[in-house]
Amino acid sequence: MSEMKSNVTFIKKPELFAQLKKQEDEFYGVIDGALRDHLPEWIKTSSCVYWLDQPEAQKNLKTYEEVSVFFLEKGISRSSTIIAIGGGATTDLAGFVAATILRGVCWMAIPTTLLAMVDGSIGGKVAVNTAQGKNLLGSFHAPSSVLICHDFLSTLPEAELHSGMGEILKYGFLSKEISDLILNKTPLDVIAFECAHFKSQVVEKDFKDLNERALLNLGHTLGHAFESTLKVSHGMAVAMGLRYLFELFSLQESLDNWNKMALSLNLPFDQLDLKFYKNFSLVQFTEFLKMDKKKTHQSIKLILVKEMGECFIHEIAFNDLLKKIEEHEAFN
Ligand SMILES: NC(=O)c1ccc[n+]([C@@H]2O[C@H](COP(=O)([O-])OP(=O)(O)OC[C@H]3O[C@@H](n4cnc5c(N)ncnc54)[C@H](O)[C@@H]3O)[C@@H](O)[C@H]2O)c1
Repeated sequence: MSEMKSNVTFIKKPELFAQLKKQEDEFYGVIDGALRDHLPEWIKTSSCVYWLDQPEAQKNLKTYEEVSVFFLEKGISRSSTIIAIGGGATTDLAGFVAATILRGVCWMAIPTTLLAMVDGSIGGKVAVNTAQGKNLLGSFHAPSSVLICHDFLSTLPEAELHSGMGEILKYGFLSKEISDLILNKTPLDVIAFECAHFKSQVVEKDFKDLNERALLNLGHTLGHAFESTLKVSHGMAVAMGLRYLFELFSLQESLDNWNKMALSLNLPFDQLDLKFYKNFSLVQFTEFLKMDKKKTHQSIKLILVKEMGECFIHEIAFNDLLKKIEEHEAFN
């Protein structure tokens, strides 16, 4: 079983369905219910599919147990492959079941949201949420393959598309090639392919997130706090996390690039501005920051941009970061 490396392939629907059909005799699926009408009849009627009607709300221990017991009763074996079809919540849950059932079986990810195509399904971080927070129980268990089919995006709501775009904006700062593609208004499927490829290369070098994988967290420290405080989508929160990080550290060139890329990606500018959120609470925001997983004792590791395609880890005393935020006009 491959543990660290996934084959990331872009595929059209007919080819994808033909590939899945070959596994019909032994098909263990965890599938987002929103996709039900967009899948072949034999999958819709399969007795070995666990359907998720509210994937994020079901990304928990209760559903984890239900899916595991369901597959055990259906006779899953160590040579079986679990197939996840859906957004990041579905692939995270299915991957976590795959990591632990029978001490680990193979799994295949078929992401159907833009966010999952460029981020969530790639890299083998699998998890469920608990009452104490998101992704607190998990493992590293890479899917043997990630099959990315852009045809699924045709039914994706605009807000979910924006979420994926927010994460793509982040890649623009990590890779000069990706920023050029964004600024040249290259078709989305090409940009998404490059992002997925970029992430899988980073992950291959640092599967357990000990070194350069940390760079992928660019924008995420403030982003997670925005996501929790404002209840905006993950990718929109990351886009805001980037913008306000650059504001805090007076990185004018990065702010200019942020503007250009956000414009090119057609992100809704008004919703990326804190002023849009009348109920924003600085106290709540800093409380969420304090819970950030990357905080070690008194300091926090932030990712900053040196120039397009070159980012670095910057460790800062947590109290200094808080002071910077509390004193910055953008947050007041
Ligand atoms: N493991 C990782 O490295 C990683 C990275 C980023 C995010 N994540 C996780 O991913 C999750 C967020 O992923 P997401 O944004 O894909 O959310 P999601 O899986 O909750 O999907 C968002 C919504 O889109 C719907 N949907 C999915 N595909 C669709 C389609 N093709 N057409 C119409 N509707 C569709 C879903 O039913 C859901 O309502 C979070 O749980 C986050 O923690 C994981």
